[in-house]
Amino acid sequence: MSLHIGSLAPDFSQESTAGPITFHHWLGKSWGVLFSHPKDFTPVCTTELGRASLLKEEFAKRGVKLLAVSVDDVASHLRWASDIEDTQGAALNFPILGDADRKVARLYDMIHPEANDTLTVRSVFVIDPNHKIRAIITYPASTGRNFQEILRVIDSLQLTDSHKVATPADWQNGDDVVILPSLQDPAELAQRFPKGFRALRPYLRLTPQPNR
Ligand code: BEZ
Repeated sequence: MSLHIGSLAPDFSQESTAGPITFHHWLGKSWGVLFSHPKDFTPVCTTELGRASLLKEEFAKRGVKLLAVSVDDVASHLRWASDIEDTQGAALNFPILGDADRKVARLYDMIHPEANDTLTVRSVFVIDPNHKIRAIITYPASTGRNFQEILRVIDSLQLTDSHKVATPADWQNGDDVVILPSLQDPAELAQRFPKGFRALRPYLRLTPQPNR
């Protein structure tokens, strides 16, 4: 079954560096980022897990829990954790699933056989408090991810969930946003966007970020 934006994130139980995790129960009412890396004790993965650990507080401020996964077992992850701490300036501070049986990798289609038969690619699933998949990002093994970009996506999702806006190209939290073209009622526009808006085209209307 292929997973899409809007799909229910499949539930699972799996071992982790923090003990057994049943995914939906572990998420509770939080947002989640489930992300795979190809292999422990590899250079790019080491930098990614360190970077995610350094940014854990930024994720927590947004109500997001981090959960990593690879097909290595928990004992391997725990041995690798000291390398992450020694080289990246941050101790691993969120769980990594030990997915040696590939249960989670298969459920989330994280193994792309044309890239590698056995290892997970760099998949990212952003999951909301209703356990719906809200964003899917996939990178090859050779490209380390930008965790600031994942935070930016979460900022956009959380903003656009509560305001009738969308975020334009290269938007950063605090920049102007665009008003949904479906919103046309002048009274509602005035009420929702008291700072006004600039209409560059009838469908392209910019307004200051409404929750600032
Ligand atoms: C890495 O994390 O450096 C890596 C892992 C698998 C393939 C290529 C690079």
